[in-house]
Amino acid sequence: MKICVLPGDGIGPEITAQAVRVLQALDLRMEMEEALLGGCAVDVASDPYPEATRKIAQEADAVLLGAVGGPQWDNNPRELRPERGLLGIRKHLGLFANLRPAILYPELANASTLKPEVVAGLDILIVRELTGDIYFGQPRGIEVRNGEKVGINTMIYSESEIRRIAKVAFEAARRRNRKVCSVDKMNVLECTQLWRDVVTSMAPEYPDVELSHMLVDNAAMQLVRNPKQFDVMVTGNMFGDILSDEASMLTGSIGMLPSASLDAGNKGLYEPCHGSAPDIAGKGIANPLATILSAAMMLRYTFGMEDAASRIESAVKTVLAQGYRTADIYESGTRKVGTREMGDAVLAAL
Ligand code: IPM
Ligand code: MG
Repeated sequence: MKICVLPGDGIGPEITAQAVRVLQALDLRMEMEEALLGGCAVDVASDPYPEATRKIAQEADAVLLGAVGGPQWDNNPRELRPERGLLGIRKHLGLFANLRPAILYPELANASTLKPEVVAGLDILIVRELTGDIYFGQPRGIEVRNGEKVGINTMIYSESEIRRIAKVAFEAARRRNRKVCSVDKMNVLECTQLWRDVVTSMAPEYPDVELSHMLVDNAAMQLVRNPKQFDVMVTGNMFGDILSDEASMLTGSIGMLPSASLDAGNKGLYEPCHGSAPDIAGKGIANPLATILSAAMMLRYTFGMEDAASRIESAVKTVLAQGYRTADIYESGTRKVGTREMGDAVLAAL
């Protein structure tokens, strides 16, 4: 098993280190190789996704990523921004299927800003298309028209792109509660009219799965009104970006949410849903659990090691039950710990 580790920027290196410790503790004969992605790569190689990293990532079976970005690179030209590295690796490796589970651990019911009864028992899977849509559509740019600047992006999806992500959602629903809600904006955008048509046309292939459709604005509202109505939500790149951040707060903290980005085979990139949190970088207080849970997803999806994945997830549940909390999920009466201590606690629970 070859794993490419990309700690990235900000809190990335701190949280990734804890996930690596957890993987090592499982004694699984893994080969790990570190490389640069994001701002750190811009600083060293003037490229957010340098050739050396491309090679290591391509040869690996899976990629474990921390986070990229930071204010020091915000004014760089677009091609020298850390985010470009992240988008670059997703596209390069063909990681079109982004799975973002939002699960509320019972111990964290009070950490959510929503009433505990609204979120208790929450278990949603957001399936976000990751290599298309307005993120990658052409034409794009800023140009001058009629004497003023205009900004242009293109929302575009092909039938085959829609079909392959919808398939992932339908199949995931079969392993869960057999419900798929497809999110679009077909009342305004042709691109998402096609989205709805294609998803609808696939429903007969999955008679055991209940398919519904929702407009994205309503979906945003329903996620905070009654989130437990959802099982699997499937949507495009941009709507998925937004809705998955919203869903994360239902669970108490974005610091708890892992993600998997998969290609058409078993290869995947695994990263927490949160960003690089430059404001707390280097302080040793970031929550490593989303990254640790991402490592569990790696074992499950790339390596088919369900038992090892469950072991990590159980260990996370145990430390929460034991009362360990990083600052983002802390409430009085629990035990506040830093990043490394949280890693220690997970290792002890393992
Ligand atoms: C995410 C992030 C990225 C995205 C950024 C950092 C480019 O917000 O993974 O959700 O928009 O996809
Ligand atoms: Mg996002």
